[in-house]
Amino acid sequence: MAVSETELHKEAERLYQNLKNVGWTFEDCEIIAPLTLEINQLKKEKNAIILAHSYVTPDIIFGVADYSGDSLGLSKQAAETDADIIIFSGVVFMAETAKILSPEKTVIVPSREAGCSLADAITGEDVRKLKEQFPGVLVVAYVNTTADVKAEADICVTSANVEDIVNKLDAERIIFIPDKNMANYLRRVTDKEIIDYEGTCIVHDNINPSSIELARERYGQDIVILAHSECPPDVIDRVDFVEGTSGMRKYIASHPEKKRFMLATECGLADRFSVEFPDREFIGSCVLCPYMKRNELRNILQALKDPKPDQIITIPEEIRVKAKRSLDRMFEMS
Ligand code: 13P
Ligand code: SF4
Repeated sequence: MAVSETELHKEAERLYQNLKNVGWTFEDCEIIAPLTLEINQLKKEKNAIILAHSYVTPDIIFGVADYSGDSLGLSKQAAETDADIIIFSGVVFMAETAKILSPEKTVIVPSREAGCSLADAITGEDVRKLKEQFPGVLVVAYVNTTADVKAEADICVTSANVEDIVNKLDAERIIFIPDKNMANYLRRVTDKEIIDYEGTCIVHDNINPSSIELARERYGQDIVILAHSECPPDVIDRVDFVEGTSGMRKYIASHPEKKRFMLATECGLADRFSVEFPDREFIGSCVLCPYMKRNELRNILQALKDPKPDQIITIPEEIRVKAKRSLDRMFEMS
C-alpha cells in the first residue's frame, strides 16, 4: 500500500497519543504505523471489523480494534455487527462464540495456536459423562469452553454475569464447568450446591498471594486490589474486589477518588487501563497469557489479506445450533 510521509507521520502521532502511556516512543509508533494504516484501510475495503480482548497488546487495542472488551461484550458485538468479516483478536473459543452467534459472517483468528487452558480442560464427551453421573442436574458452562461443550450445557455464563445468573437459576444444585477456582468463588456468593470440575486458567492459577501481601505491606490503605474470579482461593481471600475484566473496569471508572490499583489478572489489562485512566497507577500481576499473546499486528494483517483455511472458524451446524441455545439462555437471563 503506497502511503505518503505525511500520512505515516499522522498515524504515528495518533498511535503515540495512546501508547506513550505504556512506554512506547514516537519511533516505536513510526515502525508500526504502516501496518496499522494498511489494516485499517483493508477493514474498510472488506467490510471487516476487529474485535479484541482486553488482554491483547495495546498496539492492537488502540491501533486497529473496533471494539475491545471482555468475553460478554465481545460476544454481544459479534452478534450485532453488520460487518461481513470478523477478525477475532483474542482466543479461539471467543472466535467460536462469535461464529455460533453470527453463522453468516466469516470469523477469522490470527492464530490457531491461541487456545485456552480452561477450554482445553473438558470435552463434550466429558460433559455427557457428568450428566450420566448426575442425572437431571443443570449444567452451567463458563464461556471459556469449546462449541462442543456449550452444546452439551444448559446455559453459558461469563465472568461478568456468573454470580447473578447462578443465583437466579431455579435449581438448588448445579454442575459448574470447567473452572474449579471460579466454582470455589461461587461457593462464597451463592447458597447453591456446586459440583465442580478440574479445570484452571494457567494464568490466574499462577498469581501468587505473596505478591498481594507485598503490595499491601508497601501501600497499606493506598491501594485497591482487584482480582479476576478465575484466581485461586488464597488470592481471593486477600483482595478488595472480585469480578471479571469488565467488572474491574467499571469499579475503577466509578471510583475516581482511588488512585492506585493492583490487578490480579493477566498483565495486559494493566496496560489497557494505564492508557484509559492516565491519572491512576496500575500494578500488574506480571503473568501473561501465552495464548492471547499469539495475536500480533502482522498476523492480523495476513489474516485480513488472505486467511489460511485453518484461520477460518467453522462449526458443524448441529453443534452450533445447540451451543447457541446455551448462549441465548445466558442473554435472556442477564
Ligand atoms: P473476561 O470475560 O473477564 O474478560 O475473561 C476472559 C478470560 O479469558 C479471562 O482469563
Ligand atoms: Fe484462557 Fe486464562 Fe488465557 Fe483467559 S487468561 S484465555 S482463561 S488461559
